[in-house]
Amino acid sequence: MDTEPNAPVSVDGKTAVVIGGTRGIGRAIALGFAADGADVVATSRSRDAVADVAAELRERGAATAELTCDVTDTESIEALRDAAIETFGGVDVLVNSAGAVATSAVTELSDEEWQRDIDVCLTGVFRACRAFGRAMSEGSIINISSMSADQAREERAAYCAAKSGVNGLTRAVAADLAPDIRVNAIAPGFVKTEMAGPKLDDGTAFRETVDERTPMERVATPDEIAGTAVYLASDAASFTTGEIITVDGGYDDSAQ
Ligand SMILES: NC(=O)c1ccc[n+]([C@@H]2O[C@H](COP(=O)([O-])OP(=O)(O)OC[C@H]3O[C@@H](n4cnc5c(N)ncnc54)[C@H](O)[C@@H]3O)[C@@H](O)[C@H]2O)c1
Repeated sequence: MDTEPNAPVSVDGKTAVVIGGTRGIGRAIALGFAADGADVVATSRSRDAVADVAAELRERGAATAELTCDVTDTESIEALRDAAIETFGGVDVLVNSAGAVATSAVTELSDEEWQRDIDVCLTGVFRACRAFGRAMSEGSIINISSMSADQAREERAAYCAAKSGVNGLTRAVAADLAPDIRVNAIAPGFVKTEMAGPKLDDGTAFRETVDERTPMERVATPDEIAGTAVYLASDAASFTTGEIITVDGGYDDSAQ
């Protein structure tokens, strides 16, 4: 394979599908890709949310299509894939950013809560990797994991289990889809999004603890995760696969 000494950290001219792309980290990645010259489908279950982010993508000059998707439904993911390929002629980049988080101690966690976190955060990533892996001839898949995959977090049993699974899945899928498709994960630390909720607002006790444990002394904005996604999707990352890249401001769980 021919390589360039300074392959650009850019997605200019690429086509991308961002699942869970209408809010938070996924939306920031979708808009970051569009601002850098990619054409982008940003999708979730809500038709209105998809229309809103599509308007933002068009403002940044991207071609897009308004497609909904539910990662708990294999047919829905396959329909998304087929429609995206029909729109763009092919897909170069897939981002899996859909998420759900149950916040109960394990003794209170219901079967339904457990199943939902696993279904959205883990099985949904599997379904999307399988569907797009069958159709992409080359390119990059980026799964949004979490630093929680490797942490002992209270009241997050299903979420931590799912994210640990995403890391294992990422490495295994990278082996299956090599050499044509690279598969990596980003493991963010705390990011100020709707999923993170009011606990991360300035001044809460939880936020103060997080800031103390973070050398960067703050939480991330969603845009700060998008840069790593641009890198992983770009030709500059042409030999990077099966990696879990942590973006957590240096967060140290053991720091007091
Ligand atoms: N916010 C954080 O601090 C943080 C930290 C580490 C990892 N993450 C991970 O980053 C990802 C994005 O999180 P976020 O904070 O941006 O959350 P968010 O709630 O703001 O966005 C999640 C997106 O996923 C979509 N979604 C949820 N269920 C779906 C389904 N069944 N099918 C399709 N789309 C669905 C939502 O509509 C939304 O667009 C998640 O995987 C999350 O676990 C978040």
